[in-house]
Amino acid sequence: MAVPLLIVTRGLSTSGVMSAAIKHVTVVGGGLMGSGIAQVSAQTGHNVTLVEVNEEAVKKAEKSIQGSLQRVANKMYKDKPEDGEKFIKETMGRISTSTNAQEAVKNTDLVIEAIVENMDAKHKLFSSIDSSAPQHAIFASNTSSLSIEEIAQVTKRKDRFGGLHFFNPVPVMKLLEVVRTPETSDETYEKMMALGKALGKTPITCKDTPGFVVNRLLVPYVAEAVRMLERGDASAKDIDTAMKLGAGYPMGPLELADYVGLDTNKFILDGWYKKYPNEPLFRPSPLLNKLVAEGKLGRKTGEGFYKY
Ligand code: 3HC
Repeated sequence: MAVPLLIVTRGLSTSGVMSAAIKHVTVVGGGLMGSGIAQVSAQTGHNVTLVEVNEEAVKKAEKSIQGSLQRVANKMYKDKPEDGEKFIKETMGRISTSTNAQEAVKNTDLVIEAIVENMDAKHKLFSSIDSSAPQHAIFASNTSSLSIEEIAQVTKRKDRFGGLHFFNPVPVMKLLEVVRTPETSDETYEKMMALGKALGKTPITCKDTPGFVVNRLLVPYVAEAVRMLERGDASAKDIDTAMKLGAGYPMGPLELADYVGLDTNKFILDGWYKKYPNEPLFRPSPLLNKLVAEGKLGRKTGEGFYKY
């Protein structure tokens, strides 16, 4: 009788080489997204270095992480506040900070870039750290709308480059979009998927297409809600109430636009319209442009479609 052969493949990459798990994560950019990514990475036991441009920005990011951890602790350790304090202390203890990206990446396994949505800025960052990071380190971008393949062009590690797209608020939203370009190796892809699970997220896979899955659907939807308001079809409040109560969305589209930032919405739409001028879904919106020009960017400035 033939004896079944048990082949254990856990932890093996498709190339058959045991791939070490990601233990150290460098997050470049400490804004809303970068702080959230650093927090979730540290919360799940990874050592993190958070890189910002100056000490003031570092302090701001640390404060935001501390505040968000407090919310998590209040929920997780409702009846044991002292355990909550310990959790915050231990998590913060796994986060170190730096204002020097080249130094910060020297012993890292993964770099996640969450800086400004500007191709030149991203190219400048990745070309400056490519030779200082270890050979095995993976580079990833948290871009919302730019091409991962184009960002990776300036590096010599296109096989170790991909997209890791998180959602706002990062500590709460369960999804992680893992984006592979035609050059992303199987091993890199598998490590990114495994990291997503290690961070407590549900990873999905997407090709390097504009907006990946979520933003490709969400941005035209939000833009159409703005056009609806421009046409006077319904009030902002009624559009939002309609989608919350009629479609079960946690936020209405205009509320969501204010939450994400009207500048971010505009930036994504403008970039896609420039690249795909014949796509009517990406048409610019005069109302969105006007609000952004007036500095009404949503929650972060105290006013957008609503006043806060
Ligand atoms: N850190 C830690 N915890 C947080 C948090 C944060 N920053 N923000 C919210 N929470 C927790 C709260 O503590 C609360 O926990 P509890 O219910 O267990 O007490 C829970 O999340 C819900 O928060 P709130 O009670 O304050 O408010 P809501 O119930 O209204 O939920 C929301 C807020 C989670 C933001 C919800 O409205 C939602 O899911 N909105 C949609 C968000 C969304 O669509 N995000 C994606 C945007 S697109 C994007 O990010 C892509 C980018 O590329 C642009």
